[in-house]
Amino acid sequence: MNIATQAAQIGLEWDNRTGAVTVPIYQTATFRHPGLGQSTGYDYSRSGNPTRQALETGIARLDGAARGFAYASGMAAITSLLLLFRHGDHIVVTEDLYGGTYRLFEQIFQQYGLEFTYCDTSDITLVEAAIRPNTKALFVESLTNPLLKVADVRALAALCRERGVLCIVDNTFLTPYLLRPLELGADIAVYSGSKYLSGHNDTICGLVTVKDPELAERVYFHQNGAGAVLGPQDSWLTIRGMKTLSVRLDRQQENALKIARWLQENPKVSRVYYPGLEEHPGHDLLKEQASGFGAMVAFEVTEPGLVEQLLLRTELISFAESLGGVETLMTFPAVQTHADIEPAKREALGINDRLLRLSVGIENVDDLIADLDQAFAAK
Ligand SMILES: Cc1ncc(COP(=O)(O)O)c(C=O)c1O
Repeated sequence: MNIATQAAQIGLEWDNRTGAVTVPIYQTATFRHPGLGQSTGYDYSRSGNPTRQALETGIARLDGAARGFAYASGMAAITSLLLLFRHGDHIVVTEDLYGGTYRLFEQIFQQYGLEFTYCDTSDITLVEAAIRPNTKALFVESLTNPLLKVADVRALAALCRERGVLCIVDNTFLTPYLLRPLELGADIAVYSGSKYLSGHNDTICGLVTVKDPELAERVYFHQNGAGAVLGPQDSWLTIRGMKTLSVRLDRQQENALKIARWLQENPKVSRVYYPGLEEHPGHDLLKEQASGFGAMVAFEVTEPGLVEQLLLRTELISFAESLGGVETLMTFPAVQTHADIEPAKREALGINDRLLRLSVGIENVDDLIADLDQAFAAK
């Protein structure tokens, strides 16, 4: 069944007693037992809650996974996955990844003896060279944040399989609507559900999908054991957002391409990063592995002074962190999302003081372009 259909119908079958079309919000911490040694299938909401389960089943179906898991945030989801590893294990990681993930790895998990090597995961030879005897996983962003480099998930997953390494894909920027990592051979997909999946800049949420049932059991053990689960209200909001994922992303991608082309023509812009542009180095690969290019656009302005001008003078476009919602947001990665990466490293990656990132929303694209135009022109 098409992903758009599956997404629209998440939770529909959940309440057969009343026939409710949307899943009820089971706002309960605990469940009555029918008898000694008996359970309704639910005992305590950290271990399992029907609203959360509707979301977990929904994301698992979209990704073709054995099971799905919902967490209190994307970072909680990634933290829970790292509990699969032990002191002395090594993980190869995308170099220009989300700054919060970098902080988690470098400033928290390194203290517990996990080792990380960062490389450009859009180049498989660099990934191969980074694998060591103690490498246990590859953690790769399918489309990187903020430079929009494209990973060859199919080839990376095959390499991981050959070398006995788990392939974990952060697919936040593309979502299952555009790319399904498990179908391409990855073992685990992880999402900040706070972005496109919930889609309205109103919920913080993390999601994980796992292909192998035995590995899924281990992930469940840690989800329940560590306990950073998503509450029923936020599970419901995420389901509601996911129902419109396909229409939102269709519109957002259309807008993103028009804005990227407009920026390319702007003399105050020196570089535009958008994989939907044919000259983008990852364009052909994404065309082959995904059904779209997403709606994140990064661009470099010709002088640093233009950054503040654009952030402060845009009226429709908000200067705010995060991405993936219906409203267009603009961020300055060097001081916001990627502030925890050392300045020299950031600069070497291209995350410099002239780089801005747009999360393109569903507004009328002419209005968005007019807003950028007046902000560029402002004195
Ligand atoms: C690619 C990516 N992964 C993970 C996260 C973390 O998600 P959350 O903010 O929901 O904890 C983010 C957040 O910006 C992200 O952009």
